[in-house]
Amino acid sequence: MKAVVDEDRCRGHGMCLTICPEVFGLADGGYAEVLVDEVPTEHVAAVHEAVSCCPEQAISTEGD
Ligand code: F3S
Repeated sequence: MKAVVDEDRCRGHGMCLTICPEVFGLADGGYAEVLVDEVPTEHVAAVHEAVSCCPEQAISTEGD
């Protein structure tokens, strides 16, 4: 599974960073970036939680 952050939607709320810092990091400008090509199995549930918690619906997944 891949995680994707839509840079146009992200407003830097940071929930994703708190929920799953292994997958989401902070890019220049205070927005989220995805740190890994493939989400490790142990973090899949946290990424789904981040998807539902992002207030801007900026996170999506591919291949799950
Ligand atoms: Fe951005 Fe949503 Fe995370 S607004 S910083 S992708 S919680």
